[in-house]
Amino acid sequence: MRMPLIAGNWKMNTTLAEASALVEEIKERLDIIEGVEKVLCPPFVSLTLIKKLLHGSSIKLGAQNIYFEEKGAYTGEVSPLMLSGICEFVILGHSERRQYFGETDEIVNKKVHTALKAGLTPILCIGEKLEEMEARKTEEVVTRQVNGALKGIESPQRLVIAYEPIWAIGTGRAATPEDANITIAIIRKTLSHLYGDGLALETRILYGGSVTAANIFEFVIQPEIDGALVGGASLKAGEFLSIVEQSAAAK
Ligand code: 13P
Repeated sequence: MRMPLIAGNWKMNTTLAEASALVEEIKERLDIIEGVEKVLCPPFVSLTLIKKLLHGSSIKLGAQNIYFEEKGAYTGEVSPLMLSGICEFVILGHSERRQYFGETDEIVNKKVHTALKAGLTPILCIGEKLEEMEARKTEEVVTRQVNGALKGIESPQRLVIAYEPIWAIGTGRAATPEDANITIAIIRKTLSHLYGDGLALETRILYGGSVTAANIFEFVIQPEIDGALVGGASLKAGEFLSIVEQSAAAK
């Protein structure tokens, strides 16, 4: 049985004060929800403060990015070594990073390698563009992205994948749960080709893209969908709590 996971990707939102206010607002209710792994991914600068606020709770932390080198003259970058001890997860290859910061499958692959080496669990994001979906290329795109991101990785014991169709991110137009389930089954099949059925069946694959309290239940009751990577709705305390509570109830 795969433990469902709900991760909040706060993206480039919240000052330190806003981040700590949001954590204070959700942490008690979130902490007691069982049967779902709960992960908050705030901006880098809030990680250490939030780690302190969450001390002793069941809520875990993730970063939103890393650089693929461990240290050196890379002004402005954050290395995975700096994060180990602070957070357990790291979002990698988010479509916004691919779109605005030129991240290719090759770069994402390097990041997956360094993250795993540093003991972090990658939340590897993949997903097709609108025109690719319309041209029925979803399967081809996600398969290429998974193979590209995991190139040279022998056996990724710590890996979460998030299927986030780009046209569904921040648009209010989520994929249908049935379509997301079909694509996630394809992603699992790709993992199975790479690593065998055992690892494919153990790896959690999330859906992301306009997830809200109103639609989460329909996603998490799908057999292949193991939770969600939530953007906008993770910044609203009541909404995020409801998403996690419904996920616990659904599974
Ligand atoms: P929204 O939930 O705001 O659509 O964002 C999804 C996302 O990109 C999470 O990583």
